[in-house]
Amino acid sequence: MKDIYEPVPELVARAHIDAAGYEAKYAASVADPEAFWAEEAKRLDWIKTPTKVKNTSFAYPDISIKWFEDGELNVAANCIDRHLETRAEQTAIIWEPDNPEEGAQHITYRDLHTNVCKMANVLKDLGVTKGDRVVLYMPMIPQAAYAMLACARIGAIHSIVFAGFSSDALANRVNGSQAKVVITADGAPRGGRATNLKDNVNQALLHCDDSVKCLVVRRTGQQIAWRPEGDVWLHEAEANVADTCEPVAMNAEDPLFILYTSGSTGMPKGVVHTTGGYLLYAAMTHQYTFDYHDGDVFWCTADVGWVTGHSYIVYGPLANGATTVMFEGVPTWPDASRFWQVCEKHKVTQFYTAPTAIRALMGKGKEWVEGCDLSSIRLLGTVGEPINPEAWAWYNDVVGKGNCPIVDTWWQTETGGHLITPLPGAIAAKPGSATKPFFGVQPEVLDATTGEVQTETQAEGVLVIKDSWPGQMRTVWGDHDRFVKTYFSDYKGYYFSGDGCRRDADGYYWITGRVDDVINVSGHRMGTAEVESALVAHSAVSEAAVVGFPHDIKGQGIYCYVTLMEGQEPSDALLVELQNHVRTEIGPIAKPDVIQWAPGLPKTRSGKIMRRILRKIAENDYGALGDTSTLADPSVVDDLIANRAGT
Ligand code: WT7
Repeated sequence: MKDIYEPVPELVARAHIDAAGYEAKYAASVADPEAFWAEEAKRLDWIKTPTKVKNTSFAYPDISIKWFEDGELNVAANCIDRHLETRAEQTAIIWEPDNPEEGAQHITYRDLHTNVCKMANVLKDLGVTKGDRVVLYMPMIPQAAYAMLACARIGAIHSIVFAGFSSDALANRVNGSQAKVVITADGAPRGGRATNLKDNVNQALLHCDDSVKCLVVRRTGQQIAWRPEGDVWLHEAEANVADTCEPVAMNAEDPLFILYTSGSTGMPKGVVHTTGGYLLYAAMTHQYTFDYHDGDVFWCTADVGWVTGHSYIVYGPLANGATTVMFEGVPTWPDASRFWQVCEKHKVTQFYTAPTAIRALMGKGKEWVEGCDLSSIRLLGTVGEPINPEAWAWYNDVVGKGNCPIVDTWWQTETGGHLITPLPGAIAAKPGSATKPFFGVQPEVLDATTGEVQTETQAEGVLVIKDSWPGQMRTVWGDHDRFVKTYFSDYKGYYFSGDGCRRDADGYYWITGRVDDVINVSGHRMGTAEVESALVAHSAVSEAAVVGFPHDIKGQGIYCYVTLMEGQEPSDALLVELQNHVRTEIGPIAKPDVIQWAPGLPKTRSGKIMRRILRKIAENDYGALGDTSTLADPSVVDDLIANRAGT
């Protein structure tokens, strides 16, 4: 593996932008953001063209972020209607089902229009109006995209809950946003087995207001329990509605969606994205980062339950009139060639996935890749966590055959789209680095303790952003103070990402991982506090502390130190029970990998748990425990080391 990979000449020749172009455009974007974004706003169709562009302040505590605030537009009209004149018969969505034998569907922009209008009319019949919240708990089926766009069309705010989350998590989110309707399916096939989605919804709705309706897509045809008062089949409701629906004019700053994400404290927070800035930013990053051109077939393997699916399966690609692949299945079923079979079958040109998937497939051997014709692929992308050198080399050599650029895209649920990423025709890649900022993005590296700006090019510290960009989240749903506190109070005047980073002599950014109590499990964010509160909710547990530890496939695994109640004895049965308990409370992705029985936890004299020490023990790195002299009872540490669990 080389240290640096220059842009591939064939790609530079056709790319939207080259190295000199990037430098000039970046300079313009930060020199005069108003003019820059006013020009970029022309990529959207506005019902009322904005006269105001940027009205933002990071001055603590009066954080206020508004983009295009007097503009009006409709997201669904931008993703569908405006393409009908030129590309009604072009495929908008290629849907690949879990079971390859079921056969793919090609949904044209015209079909998309009809389906979205019908679902929008059904939602209206269910009483949903502008500003109402609709929760989606769906498999990766076209109806998930229809539902998102149907909400956008009538001005409802969608909140997608990943179908892998538990009914408790679902109930919290339905209640948290006071949703009127939940859209789901009977079941979700994945890897040849079906999850009982509707059962989970029924469980969740027991804890919600009786008025909440449930719109059900028939996917598997499996038996489900029906709530006669509140349940509606989509196919039945659609039989009675018109197949056109006027898009509602929305203010650029009206919320488009809420998406819950974990933080370092408390319950997950509802990240709010708005209409104009978000769509513009998703569309623009999709075009430049992936060097998207007409005729390409773009595949992002994420689930629509995560922000990656929102921005790069649905909103970005469809705003650009692209053909986007939506995949219901998993990478390893029916066998480990599934991803590559899909690439071959649909002649995918850009492929975007996560390091954890690459590592899992790498472990299965390269013969699964080599049996497939991947000659259509021109570019590879990664997201979710820093990519390790072995995975990068395998992606480059085995999947890309050494001639596809890899774009390592750093961003977050909060940022709406890529903030630091190579542009394939412009920026040379360095394996493991997200490289340089996107247009309009001004990263800074601060000293973690003093908060001082690191002015030298070579620097290390925490990653913050100096000024707003259009795709930035606007608030935490129902709790603006939490928004201000979480992102703007630690380093005043900046948006704080929660990530650590290094900037090298060439000005390249290398993300080093979270510096807060958030861990990254298979590219998914998990608040350690959330797992801890699930554990202490169990009657046998008195106290729990959770940290991440290096895991070969997941990146980080979940390591739990558990102190039991008086009279409770540790046992293998209890261990399994606790693992399952966390699984039911949060979802399978939160299932602890390791549980260590801890008679005591290392605490300072003021009672604060010293996680630094717990992390080191979980990492099997006792040489570096650091100062333990402030501990109330240093012998606790010796016991934890002696009884360390795991490998
Ligand atoms: C956190 C955000 C946004 C898409 C998926 C995750 C980590 C994300 C990278 C990358 C290093 C990355 C960061 C970030 N992360 N992409 N290319 N290199 N780290 O979204 O769940 O909001 O998590 O994922 O730690 O803060 P998310």
